[in-house]
Amino acid sequence: MGIQAESITRVQEPAEASTSQITVLDTGGQYTHLIARKVRELGVYADVQPSDLPAEQLRSSKGIIISGGPASVYEPGCPDIDPIVLRAGVPVLGICYGHQLLAHHLGGKVQKGERGEYGLAHLTITSDDALWNGVRESQIWMSHRDSVAAVPAGFRVTASTSTSAIAAMSSPERKLFGVQFHPEVVHTHAGKQILENFIFRVCGATRDWDVSQRIPVIEEQIRSIARNRNIFFFVSGGVDSTVAYTLCLRALGPERVYGIYVDTGLMRKGETELVSRAFHELGAKHFLVDNAEEKFLAALAGIEDPEEKRRAIGEQFVKVQERILATQHFLDGHWILGQGTIYPDTIESGGTAKADLIKTHHNRVAGIQALVESGKIIEPLAPFYKDEVREIGRELGVPDKILARHPFPGPGLGIRCLCANAEGALTETSDGFLLPVRSVGVQGDCRSYRNVFALPRKPTLEDIQATAPALINSRFDVNRIVAICGSKAPMASLQVFEASITKDRLEALREADAIVRDLSVETGFEEQVWQFPVVLLPVGTETARESVVLRPVNSVDGMTADAVLMDGEILDALTAKLLNLPRIAAVFYDLTHKPPGTIEWE
Ligand code: XMP
Repeated sequence: MGIQAESITRVQEPAEASTSQITVLDTGGQYTHLIARKVRELGVYADVQPSDLPAEQLRSSKGIIISGGPASVYEPGCPDIDPIVLRAGVPVLGICYGHQLLAHHLGGKVQKGERGEYGLAHLTITSDDALWNGVRESQIWMSHRDSVAAVPAGFRVTASTSTSAIAAMSSPERKLFGVQFHPEVVHTHAGKQILENFIFRVCGATRDWDVSQRIPVIEEQIRSIARNRNIFFFVSGGVDSTVAYTLCLRALGPERVYGIYVDTGLMRKGETELVSRAFHELGAKHFLVDNAEEKFLAALAGIEDPEEKRRAIGEQFVKVQERILATQHFLDGHWILGQGTIYPDTIESGGTAKADLIKTHHNRVAGIQALVESGKIIEPLAPFYKDEVREIGRELGVPDKILARHPFPGPGLGIRCLCANAEGALTETSDGFLLPVRSVGVQGDCRSYRNVFALPRKPTLEDIQATAPALINSRFDVNRIVAICGSKAPMASLQVFEASITKDRLEALREADAIVRDLSVETGFEEQVWQFPVVLLPVGTETARESVVLRPVNSVDGMTADAVLMDGEILDALTAKLLNLPRIAAVFYDLTHKPPGTIEWE
């Protein structure tokens, strides 16, 4: 019994939640988690499993959804399902690649696509179907290369588009359904209705998932896992660790839960004060701020290379945490480690596995590794998605200014303060300027560093964005396009200065970042974007040696992202304020999607 209890590492979802669960089989698509989230939003518990999970393990599911994915059913080693799943009598909905898998396994024909179909299309319903109850012909979102060319015996075509003759098919007797489009994304107007039809009409699921009602259950589980031990957290001020901490605080009381916040000196303006205040307001009694700024700055002095900077920051985290573990006696057997891990971080299947670079520096600490390996860890948010974590946070009274926060990288401003190891001039071309600073891009599975191309801001950002992809494709030395919003001196007179991370440069970045954030909050732009990094470049003049890059993006999970354009007048106002800062020579606006550019510049 003792060993059993020790090995519990997560607060699992309550047993009764799985009675009407929908299982999403993950074939590696970027929207897999979105499908499960949408089902949960309809009040039905859904989880994500590897696509090839044996059919036996799916018997208790009321319905199965096979996700989309980038593969082709003809590729060797492509994600597959246990074919018995399709004969087990449990309703199945195949989406995109899942739709093609259905056709492939049941004797239909999948045709390899040359051009594919990406973006909006109009759905024409060709036959009555359980999925179409209350659905009108309307806009859908397509994203596929291959397509189903012939339905399997016993299936009929239920919808088409101008380019996909078989946009949907079904065999109602066997409760098998396939759709080529993506009902889980908002661009498919009837998507929610289609999922509802499948879940309730076809699968007969009942509503059983209400996150706020789970709080007492989670608290009880925390008490049973912790038993007589106390819990400590390394908190960041981010949504997940704050909510996980607050749950533990409620479950065990303020005497038994410790929060440690490491001030690396790489934080945004006012961050440490804001987090300290918020934790005290939440009722924290043992909240320690560890001021490690000098150590981090010393470790970063003189380093230019981005990967080296990350490594130096990671190493410092390890050292600080080891010191804290020792001085607070957290390894003496009376403590367990609390973490804010959420559901997408726990899934290792298909293509959605995210070996989070972010958390590696925590895991590398030997003492923490030992706690994890002996099961002395508690992750109360492991069954939940971000929106659900926010909902729990709201119920617990976590302030909105914490819950509404954008994601912020662990290495903080350290990876937004770009460095250079040599001076260099900008190269002027007929289109714009090549900046000899290196920014990171996504090239296949690897990160690569290339230069940045700056284009004059034509009347609107849209005009430049329209020409940006062609420009990136035409040059091998560039992975990012920025618009020039304004500069104190002519662009041709700017240069790159040798620079590494210093307190002064961080201070300049903090000021610029605070100006951007204030205006962004004031104008409501903050709520329209998923994340808004502000980056400092060592590009300027002798008297003002830095530039600022604005990088607002929209994203679902950070894996891909779209550059978001800002209203021209607001951008003008922002540019003027930033150029008012004595050290800032120019302001740029990043127009690059991910891929080819990453969200962060390093
Ligand atoms: P990229 O730049 O890879 O970022 O497009 C995707 C998301 O991950 C965040 N990010 C990090 N978070 N430590 C973190 O905690 C890191 O080293 C790190 N690098 C990127 C980034 O802010 C974005 O949300």
